Amino acid sequence: MKITVVGAHGKISRLLHPKLIDEGHDVRGIIRKKEQVETLEKMGVTPVVADIEQQTDISEAVGNVDAVVFAAGAGPGSGKERKYTVDRDGAIKLMRACQANEITRYIMISAMGLDEPRGNEVFQVYQKAKAEADEALLNSGLNYTIIKPGKLTDEDGTGKVSVGNLERGEIPREDVSSVIAASLDNASTYYKSFDLLAGSQSIQDALSSLK
Ligand SMILES: NC(=O)c1ccc[n+]([C@@H]2O[C@H](COP(=O)([O-])OP(=O)(O)OC[C@H]3O[C@@H](n4cnc5c(N)ncnc54)[C@H](OP(=O)(O)O)[C@@H]3O)[C@@H](O)[C@H]2O)c1
Repeated sequence: MKITVVGAHGKISRLLHPKLIDEGHDVRGIIRKKEQVETLEKMGVTPVVADIEQQTDISEAVGNVDAVVFAAGAGPGSGKERKYTVDRDGAIKLMRACQANEITRYIMISAMGLDEPRGNEVFQVYQKAKAEADEALLNSGLNYTIIKPGKLTDEDGTGKVSVGNLERGEIPREDVSSVIAASLDNASTYYKSFDLLAGSQSIQDALSSLK
């Protein structure tokens, strides 16, 4: 498959690229900083420099691919404004680009617990922005998979997860990247939205169990 990853220099994305490339996919990565070009090239990813906040139309950057992954985020150091401009509006611009370029498959890295916003004001805005992006994707007509991980860690992946409607917990970014790679052309994940935590099932079994 040809796949465009948005937020391609992020931590999850850099764990995802080698998996996609090993599986024979063609990966195009959207980044906003020219200094990140070399890292992506070394990984075998085709870099495309585009700022999803500054550009109103990102369809040219997204290109003619079979699937997209939204892995961008304003990040923990950002203020309220960028939660909307990156986490919500960036994701929605990617939906519009899919519609313009006739791409049907969209994988979203969302987050758990968005129905009950918690934490400080900025974190609550983040949760609202993510929830609005998910809602837009559910109504977009695209073939979505909305992956809602718990707190992300940099521990080694275990390949064992839990999916469904879950209580709070953690998951290594490496396992999130494995779930993205395993979901791309897996029909059990089409039109599904699910929480994702470290657990005891293999990723294939967990994804097959989705209802
Ligand atoms: N942290 C958690 O516990 C948690 C839990 C559940 C879900 N999530 C979600 O998971 C997502 C991915 O996690 P991660 O750890 O891989 O995040 P990350 O390392 O912060 O990666 C996010 C990427 O988005 C890029 N980005 C930001 N603004 C952009 C723009 N305007 N145009 C293009 N790219 C832009 C950043 O690039 P720059 O280098 O240019 O800033 C960065 O590379 C998070 O963003 C979050 O929404 C997080």
